[in-house]
Amino acid sequence: MEDRELIRAAIRARENAYCPYSGYGVGAALLACSGRVYGGCNIENAAYGPTNCAERTAFFKAVSEGEREFLALAIVGGPRDGELQESISPCGVCRQVMAEFCPPDFRVLLAWGEGADQYRAYTLEQLLPLGFGPDNLK
Ligand code: THU
Repeated sequence: MEDRELIRAAIRARENAYCPYSGYGVGAALLACSGRVYGGCNIENAAYGPTNCAERTAFFKAVSEGEREFLALAIVGGPRDGELQESISPCGVCRQVMAEFCPPDFRVLLAWGEGADQYRAYTLEQLLPLGFGPDNLK
């Protein structure tokens, strides 16, 4: 699948962001090795702590459907009612969830639009160097 297609899926997923407290909507789209794409949005909570990031929503949907291997994740975010303006970078907790299921060369696309030049691609290794992961417990 093309990067831009995955980014479009993240932009679509963001439309469902439930963010009444921050007003900040995030969308993610996770490409599994099976070829399926799982969208995710942030889901906030009045008690704040239970809030789930878009990235983890996408991972948890996919893993709960039996997926265990992944190729790439696209992420977009910004004030809910505005246009996308700049890329956002995933929080530390979401990076740790990625490290549970993904290899160091897993691709993370940080986008601020649908255009061919409106994203940057990083590897999980770049985003979470020296991480603690499943291999440490073998
Ligand atoms: N958020 C995400 O969904 N993903 C990120 O990578 C950063 C932050 C959400 C959590 C909260 O609902 C809102 O953005 C503001 O922090």
